[in-house]
Amino acid sequence: MTEYKLKDLISKYLKLTDKYSLNDFINICSNYLNKDKNYILTSIDVLILDEKQFNELENLFYKLVKMNIPYQYIIGYKDFYNERYIVNNSVLIPREDTEVLVDVAIKYIQKFKLKNMLDLCTGSGCIGISVAKNSNIENVLMTDISDSALEVAKQNIKQNGVEDRCFTLKSDLFSNIKDKKFDLLVSNPPYIKTDDILNLTADVRNEPDIALDGGEDGLKFYRLILSYCKAVLDDNAYLIMEIGYDQKDDFIDLVKSVNCIEYIDTLKDFSNNDRVVICRFHQI
Ligand SMILES: C[S@@+](CC[C@H](N)C(=O)[O-])C[C@H]1O[C@@H](n2cnc3c(N)ncnc32)[C@H](O)[C@@H]1O
Repeated sequence: MTEYKLKDLISKYLKLTDKYSLNDFINICSNYLNKDKNYILTSIDVLILDEKQFNELENLFYKLVKMNIPYQYIIGYKDFYNERYIVNNSVLIPREDTEVLVDVAIKYIQKFKLKNMLDLCTGSGCIGISVAKNSNIENVLMTDISDSALEVAKQNIKQNGVEDRCFTLKSDLFSNIKDKKFDLLVSNPPYIKTDDILNLTADVRNEPDIALDGGEDGLKFYRLILSYCKAVLDDNAYLIMEIGYDQKDDFIDLVKSVNCIEYIDTLKDFSNNDRVVICRFHQI
């Protein structure tokens, strides 16, 4: 009779990858079997699975190692700003660099007593929810064009217990946002040039194109946001957005072409790349 030994399965896939460690495979097992990581690690030599468990785990390992499905999609979550976010292939996996944006937004909310925030292009909801959990913001509208991304954002709102202040809306940028006035707009829009998407690593290519594609020059969303934000912003509202590491100068040029937006500052990420731009809207 076949014995479905976990150790054999993990050994097989460890030999096929330089990218993932024993710890990563143990994490996947812990998640799938709903057992503590240490329990799996200490009993790995004797753990026998049933046929279904073995096949399903093998399928997950195969997706990770052979199909370049991102590790976070396999385990189903990503930790971001000390919170846990559900992720699947409908949403961009939250990046550490985006925590810089969350930090700045929280500081601005405290300093200027901001109350109503719009998180445009929310994806998993990591920005809006992390800001809500760590500040006194009263109301956060989180919008995205993707129904399946908004489903994930809704689950994350519930999981993080911010249903009283965070709300989702399907909207192609500002199109469905009616009669709302915000004093803060945050966004991490798609900003990769269309032609550069093909050169991304295989696992990033497995994230949704709609979350990556910033048009021919990568600036499509900034152009639209800066041009149309006046419809939803209060006078003196702040805009805090993530940009690509090489987009600062182009972004500042864009701001100069829109006369109701004042450029304030650019902040660096943990790798010292330009990452977060801050602007202010003036009603004229
Ligand atoms: C770079 S991801 C950012 C996700 C999340 N805010 C984060 O920082 O991890 C961009 C998001 O923009 C959404 N998106 C793309 N085009 C859009 C549009 N026209 N209107 C609204 N959202 C859009 C995508 O579905 C995706 O969730």
